Amino acid sequence: MNAMSTVSPVQPETSVLERIQSLESEYLLQNYARYPLVLQRGKGCYVFDTSGKRYLDFIAGIGVNALGHAHPRLVKTIRAQAGLMLHTSNLYYHEYQGPLAERLAKISGLQRTFFCNSGTEAMEGALKMVRSHGRKLSPEKYEVISLHNSFHGRTFGSLSITGQEKYRRDFEPLLAGAKFVPANDLTALEQMVCERTAGIVIEWIQGEGGIFPMTNEYARKARELADRFDALLVFDEIQCGVGRVGKYFAYQLADPVVLPDVMVAAKPLACGIPLGVIVANERAAKAIGPGMHGSTFGGGPLACRVAIDFLDILEGLLPHIEQAGAYFRSKLEALRSRFPFIKEVRGRGLMVGMDLAIPGKQIVLDAMADGLLINCTHDTVLRFLPPYIVTEKEIDRAVRILQKALKAAAKRGDAS
Ligand SMILES: Cc1ncc(COP(=O)(O)O)c(C=O)c1O
Repeated sequence: MNAMSTVSPVQPETSVLERIQSLESEYLLQNYARYPLVLQRGKGCYVFDTSGKRYLDFIAGIGVNALGHAHPRLVKTIRAQAGLMLHTSNLYYHEYQGPLAERLAKISGLQRTFFCNSGTEAMEGALKMVRSHGRKLSPEKYEVISLHNSFHGRTFGSLSITGQEKYRRDFEPLLAGAKFVPANDLTALEQMVCERTAGIVIEWIQGEGGIFPMTNEYARKARELADRFDALLVFDEIQCGVGRVGKYFAYQLADPVVLPDVMVAAKPLACGIPLGVIVANERAAKAIGPGMHGSTFGGGPLACRVAIDFLDILEGLLPHIEQAGAYFRSKLEALRSRFPFIKEVRGRGLMVGMDLAIPGKQIVLDAMADGLLINCTHDTVLRFLPPYIVTEKEIDRAVRILQKALKAAAKRGDAS
C-alpha cells in the first residue's frame, strides 16, 4: 500500500452509464434522447447490459435485428467474410450482389436492384428515379405525393416527403413539389394526382406514424392513378417489409397483390449490417442510366452475403411470423379488455402497435426496469417489433411485464 492510497478518500465508482453519458454529453451531437441503458451483448431475443442484466428485446434495433442477436449462422458468415474481404467498392464485381439481386427479384416481383446503406438513402435514390422518370416526360412533371403522418427518412429528399411537420419545419425550404394527402382517403388522392405527378409514395403500414395500415382499396386506387398519369408508384417497405408482417413484403398482404413500380427496403435486410435497396421494375429502372447514381459502400460483400443467409432462413420463418404475431396480438387484445386506457391494438405479423389514451413514456421505462425493451411512437403508441424468431414463451413473458407496467400506470392515474 503506498502513502497516497492511505490518505485518499474512498471514491464511489462512477457507473458505466454515468461515464458514458458524461462523455456523450460532451462530445456527441445532442440529437438523441436515449434510454438510460448501456447494451453490451445479445443472444437470441435477449440483450444484456454492462452489469449483465437481461432484457427481452421487443424493439430489435427498431426492426433491424430480425434474427435476434448473435445468430450462429450469421456469426459464422460474418467471421468468414471478415477474413476474406470487407469492401470492394462498386468499381469491381464481387460474388454476392448478383445472387442477392436475383433473390430480391424473385421474392418481390420487381426486376432490378440498387444497393445502398440505409433506409433514407434508398428513398433518396427512389426519389431520383421518380424525378428522372417525370423529367423524361415533361419538365413540369416533378411532383411527389405522399401521405400525412408518413415517415420516409431524415435526408433532404426523404424529409421533404415525410408527412409530419415536426420533422420538416427546422429545415425548410425543402424539395419542391412535395404534396401530402390523408391516408386511405381515395377521393383526396384522386383530386391530388395529375399530369404533374411523377410519383406516389406509400408506406403499406405506417411505422413511425403509429402502426397505421393502408387499405387494399387505397393501394389499388394509387396503382390505378399512377398508371393513368404515368407516374411511378413507390412503396416504402423499410419498416414493414422483408418478412416483418409474415410476407416477404407488406404489399403482398393484398389479394390480388398490388405491385409497385419501385420498392425500398432496408432495416432487417442484413440483420444489423447496414444495407438498403431500391428494387424497381424495368419501366422505373430505365430512369436511372449510367453514372446517374452510385454509392461507395452500398452492397459490399459482407452485407450482401449476410442478406443472402438471412433470406435463406426467412423463407422458412414466414409462417411462424404470422402465427407468433397473431398470438401476440391476441394477448394484447386481452390486456385491452382489462385496461380501459388501451384504445386499440393494430398491426400485422410482428409489427404491432398499442394505441393508448395516455402517454406511453413511463410505461416504456417501467417495462425496461423490469427487463422488457419496447418503445413509444407518437407519444401514445407503444410499438413492438420483436425478432422474427420470438417464441410464445417469450411473448408470454413480455406480456406479463407489460401488464405490470400498465397496472402501475392505472394505479398512478395516468389516464385521469
Ligand atoms: C418507413 C421508413 N422509411 C424510412 C426510414 C428511414 O430509414 P433509416 O433510418 O435507415 O434511414 C424509416 C426509419 O425508421 C422508416 O421507418
